[in-house]
Amino acid sequence: MDRYCVFGNPIAHSKSPDIHAAFAAQTGQQLLYEKRLAPLDGFFTAVRGFMAEGGKGANVTVPFKLEACKVAQALTMRAQAAGAVNTLHFTADGIIGDNTDGAGLVADIVDNAGTAIAGKRVLLLGAGGAARGVVLPILEHCPAKLLIANRTVATAEALVQQFAALGGAGVVSACGFADIEGEFDIVINATSASLSAELPPIPAGVFGPATLALDMMYGKEPTVFMQFAAAHGARTRDGLGMLVQQAAEAFAVWRGVRPDTAAVLAQLRAAL
Ligand code: ATR
Repeated sequence: MDRYCVFGNPIAHSKSPDIHAAFAAQTGQQLLYEKRLAPLDGFFTAVRGFMAEGGKGANVTVPFKLEACKVAQALTMRAQAAGAVNTLHFTADGIIGDNTDGAGLVADIVDNAGTAIAGKRVLLLGAGGAARGVVLPILEHCPAKLLIANRTVATAEALVQQFAALGGAGVVSACGFADIEGEFDIVINATSASLSAELPPIPAGVFGPATLALDMMYGKEPTVFMQFAAAHGARTRDGLGMLVQQAAEAFAVWRGVRPDTAAVLAQLRAAL
């Protein structure tokens, strides 16, 4: 049976084996998917070992997404743009590094939340790895504006430079949190502030009744960002839908069939 895994450190919390088992059952695909704890200084060896055992592909999570770029022999366009790899595909031509996080976010916004990105004003909070990974997939959906706001403005400005040549010219701009102006259709929190129950200091006026506010983090309770956005009239979403959609995209890369995510998302939500 074809074998896949997710590498991380720590890894015990990972929901990926449950998600991929549900996808396999739904699509009638025969595969095994397990969690693997890779030593902090032993990611390459762990990947090579899994390949030697006959592994067909792997997901990669914290803290190995940058190292996974180096283990790959070729990178997809979206992995290059993200500067990180969350999906490895072991093919006859070598190890392909891909990144399905951004496509997962976009699929969650468009398909699960039913919110078009085309022609919309999008505000992206944060300019670290998580934010960088979603810029290209958002641009591919042709927003009217993509404003990247970050605590450290220079990091956001560097992203604008990077994406100017990839369809972002005239669409992407950068600023600090205090300089954000106007209301947005979609506000995405890609900062790691929610991890410490902090809120990026953004003006409440970015939210309106038609705004979709999405936090990439998730938990049993709404994050502080979601609570703030809801208090100012926005519809809110956490990152659980993105998690399931990035997995569906990885499944499609490996198996050539994209599973339906709604039932799996509902199951995970109920088990939180
Ligand atoms: P990740 O891989 O989760 O994106 P990262 O690359 O370390 O992690 O990036 C973290 C992001 O969250 C950055 O944009 C960071 O802002 P700085 O570039 O100014 O460091 C942002 N961030 C972290 N804690 C924050 C906080 N308390 N308030 C606002 N932004 C925060």
